[in-house]
Amino acid sequence: MNHFLDIHTTEGAALRQMINSAHAMKAARNGRPKGTPDDDQPLAGHMVALIFEKPSTRTRVSFDVGVRQMGGQTMVLSGREMQLGHGETIADTARVLSRYVDLIMIRTFEEATLLEMAEHATVPVINGLTNRTHPCQIMADVMTYEEHRGPIAGKKVVWAGDGNNVCASFLHAAGQFGFDFTFTGPPTLDPEPSAIGFAREKGVRVAVERDPALAVAGADLVVTDTWVSMHDPESAKERRHNQLRPYQVNEALMARARPDALFMHCLPAHRNDEATSAVMDGPHSVVFDEAENRLHAQKAVMRWCLGL
Ligand code: CP
Ligand code: NVA
Repeated sequence: MNHFLDIHTTEGAALRQMINSAHAMKAARNGRPKGTPDDDQPLAGHMVALIFEKPSTRTRVSFDVGVRQMGGQTMVLSGREMQLGHGETIADTARVLSRYVDLIMIRTFEEATLLEMAEHATVPVINGLTNRTHPCQIMADVMTYEEHRGPIAGKKVVWAGDGNNVCASFLHAAGQFGFDFTFTGPPTLDPEPSAIGFAREKGVRVAVERDPALAVAGADLVVTDTWVSMHDPESAKERRHNQLRPYQVNEALMARARPDALFMHCLPAHRNDEATSAVMDGPHSVVFDEAENRLHAQKAVMRWCLGL
């Protein structure tokens, strides 16, 4: 069994195999109704626990649908309603859940919670987002880029805005999949140095460019995310908006990227803050393909975790 905790802690060859498997499973569905089972039922007889300590639309629905398409069953658990939210330890929760279910996906705040769950679970644990990273999202993003434009290796990806959890996983992916990464945003919201260090050690170019117009020159892919993440205090909102306004992805900024550049956003979006509706709904945007590909990519991740 394998845990899927982060992109930088998973073997590059395994990541590539999961992306290939995701493409194949997407193609195999061949436009059939969404609620129908796959021909292949690798998760038949399997129970999957989906634990959420933060809100979710895509992660919740895509994991749930993905498990069912592969023949398994799910239970969606809210952290607040579990004893976990009332003092039971993460280690004990992991030991107990492992007696009932075959796979655990958890969305939580502290990375330490995820790691403790993985340490004490005897079934695979998947990271469904922490304050630090969001690896399932970036698997879908790599899949989406390659579906539209072919290999992502050697391409230039530009992240505009907050150097947050999704940005950190993108940096990990830069190292693992071999693409260059430029961050443009205010210095106080730079990505964490260890994520930059990981990508650089893998030999890809990582640049920090404070001028967004210069940053996006030659970009094959422009990415942004919310200016205020779920773990950020509400009190930081006004300051963040003021700091990040110059990094909004709008048509003028996209016009400086390559003509065939793609635009991505993991969603949920705050339209006309981090990206304008003209960009979200414009010709470069693949945001809804990204959302769909969460389903296919995570099916591949779950199969890999279970060795199926
Ligand atoms: N992108 C993403 O993880 O969306 P949700 O918060 O809706 O799951
Ligand atoms: N950075 C965002 C991503 C949401 C999917 C957050 O953590 O809230």
